[in-house]
Amino acid sequence: MASKAATFLLAASFAITAASAFQFEVADEIGWSKPTGKERETYNEWAAQNRFHIRDTLHFHYAKDSVLVVTSADYLTCNATNPIAEFDDGSTVYELDRPGFFYFISGQPGHCKSGQRLIVRVMHPLPPAASPELAPELAPSLAPTGEGDGDSRWPEFSSTAKLSVVSYFVAAFVALVVTLYLFV
Ligand SMILES: *[C@@H]1O[C@H](CO)[C@@H](O)[C@H](O)[C@H]1NC(C)=O
Repeated sequence: MASKAATFLLAASFAITAASAFQFEVADEIGWSKPTGKERETYNEWAAQNRFHIRDTLHFHYAKDSVLVVTSADYLTCNATNPIAEFDDGSTVYELDRPGFFYFISGQPGHCKSGQRLIVRVMHPLPPAASPELAPELAPSLAPTGEGDGDSRWPEFSSTAKLSVVSYFVAAFVALVVTLYLFV
C-alpha cells in the first residue's frame, strides 16, 4: 500500500515536471499594451486564470513599450526608476525561475497607472511543511527508505499538503488528457 502511494507520488511528480515547462502568452491576443478600458479583463484577471510553475516562461509582445520587472513596492506605486530588469525589444520571453511573486509594469509614462501591470505568482514545487519543526524532515523523506510501513514514511504530509499534491496531480492529469485529445 505504502509503496503504491510512493510510486503514485513519484509518477505524479514526474508528470508535473514534464507538463510544467510552458510558455504563456501574456494576456493572449491583447498582448502587452496600455489598456483602453474596453478589454475583457485586466492583466491580473488574466493571470488569475493560469497556474504558473518554475521554469514556465511569459511571452510579452508589444510595440513602443517596455517590460520592467520591479519590486512589490515599485509595482504598487508604478515607480519605473529602478527596475530589477528591463526589456524593450518588443518580444520578451521571461523565465519564472523561482517560486513566489513576480511584478511587471510598463516603463512608458502613465501606462502602469492605466493598468498595464501584472502580478504573477509561481507555485512552490513541493507542498510546504505543515510546521517549522517538520521542515528539516522534508528533504530526506522524499526518498522512501523501504523501512517501516504505512504512513510513517510521509510524516510531513499534513492533510492540506495532501490536498495540494492531489491538486497538482489533477492539473497534470488534465494536461495529459488534453494532450491525448489533441494528438490522438
Ligand atoms: C522611486 O524609486 C526610487 C528608487 O527606488 C526612489 O528613489 C524614488 O523616491 C521613488 N519615487 C517615488 C515617486 O516613489
